[in-house]
Amino acid sequence: MIRDQARYHQRLCSYHIYIDAFAGAGKHISKKTGAFVLGSPMNALLVEPPFREYHFKVLPKAKYKDYRRALCILDPYGLHLDWKVIYKVGQMKSIDIFLNFPVADINRNVLWRN
Ligand SMILES: C[S@@+](CC[C@H](N)C(=O)[O-])C[C@H]1O[C@@H](n2cnc3c(N)ncnc32)[C@H](O)[C@@H]1O
Repeated sequence: MIRDQARYHQRLCSYHIYIDAFAGAGKHISKKTGAFVLGSPMNALLVEPPFREYHFKVLPKAKYKDYRRALCILDPYGLHLDWKVIYKVGQMKSIDIFLNFPVADINRNVLWRN
């Protein structure tokens, strides 16, 4: 019984996908020091244990029914995030999102109008 549950749990959670919809170049130059700084895609590639799939700028089919689960990083510079992406991810029930919410751009370009 316990072994069956462990196998079931392992099957549910054994296929992890990394999605970085605004991956950028992978490396940046620090304004303070001039040194290279790793961006989110390079950091993801260094995570242990590794993800099974990596998708930069693509939303793959991380289907719930296929026992796949994904972490999706949304790190846009400004307001150009298509909110239908978040709606779609919510419907899939298999993807967690880290959203870097563009507060400065919202304040500058949206809230003052309404
Ligand atoms: C805030 S940066 C992301 C930085 C990255 N998360 C990191 O840690 O290095 C946003 C990136 O999204 C890219 N970008 C802008 N519009 C995009 C689009 N429609 N599709 C994919 N990438 C886009 C930009 O070129 C830029 O590199």
